[in-house]
Amino acid sequence: MQIVKHINELQAILDNKRQEGLSIGFVPTMGALHAGHLSLVEKAGQQSGFVVASIFVNPTQFNDKGDLERYPRDLQKDVDLLEPTSCQLIFAPEADEIYPEPDTRQFNFGNLEQVMEGKFRPGHFNGVAQVVSRLFEIVQPDKAFFGLKDFQQLAIINEMVRKLELPVEIVPCPIVRETDGLAMSSRNMLLSKEQRLNAVLISATLFEATNKTGELNVEELTYWVINRINENEYLNTEYFEIVNSMTLQPIKSWNDPCLKVGCIAVQCGKIRLIDNVKIDN
Ligand code: PAJ
Repeated sequence: MQIVKHINELQAILDNKRQEGLSIGFVPTMGALHAGHLSLVEKAGQQSGFVVASIFVNPTQFNDKGDLERYPRDLQKDVDLLEPTSCQLIFAPEADEIYPEPDTRQFNFGNLEQVMEGKFRPGHFNGVAQVVSRLFEIVQPDKAFFGLKDFQQLAIINEMVRKLELPVEIVPCPIVRETDGLAMSSRNMLLSKEQRLNAVLISATLFEATNKTGELNVEELTYWVINRINENEYLNTEYFEIVNSMTLQPIKSWNDPCLKVGCIAVQCGKIRLIDNVKIDN
């Protein structure tokens, strides 16, 4: 496995691989890798001839400076985790490689970015679109792999690819969870022991909610989830919304003929956790 920091070096390697007839699979990450990230790499390995993972903590997508400063960084540990996988190249650039000049592009994702994460993290998805479009321009992957854990991010990336007519296939990958159900996240390692123990209530509540569509309507179930989580002294729900999986707009009734997803963000002390679950009814 090679580790490169510079675009010209990366592109020389990828040009060779393309000439050998290999397709390029790409897994963008911010490092602090866990089994969720590795599942994306594994899927990329099954579907591509050559797998590139990027590790770059993108400053433009952090609307909270403290969050950016706290974000865990350990390149050597990430390299060790990727070594036994199907990843063949790590692209770990410095910020000026990605942004030689400040990126002033403004994307417009309409209603997709007005809700949930977009409402609580202003500018976040603009930063995500800036970095992902830049990384796509550099790597020019055939396929790129994204986790359903960041459900809204995936919708935004799909919309960006559609709007910019980028020649890349976006492959969604299922959420990987800890054994107790908590969705894996790089931020989980920032939780104290007590916070970690209590954070399990987030996924447990989402799973329980999926069984309650017979007895509660959409509004009642929404309140039920929020109240149940907020009763825990370690947790504070920022939002919980049951949305149409395509438009991300809240649904009003179980009769809405769409795939439904319950999306949540919870503050656990200073750490912000997100999760989601498909709701069948
Ligand atoms: P990061 O949080 O490092 O996540 C990288 C990828 O891993 C994303 O596609 C995310 O959805 C996926 N992922 C994270 N936790 C997961 C889990 N438990 N199960 C499955 N997939 C999971 O998302 C970002 O970085 C950044 O916004 C990025 C796209 C790299 C742009 O900077």
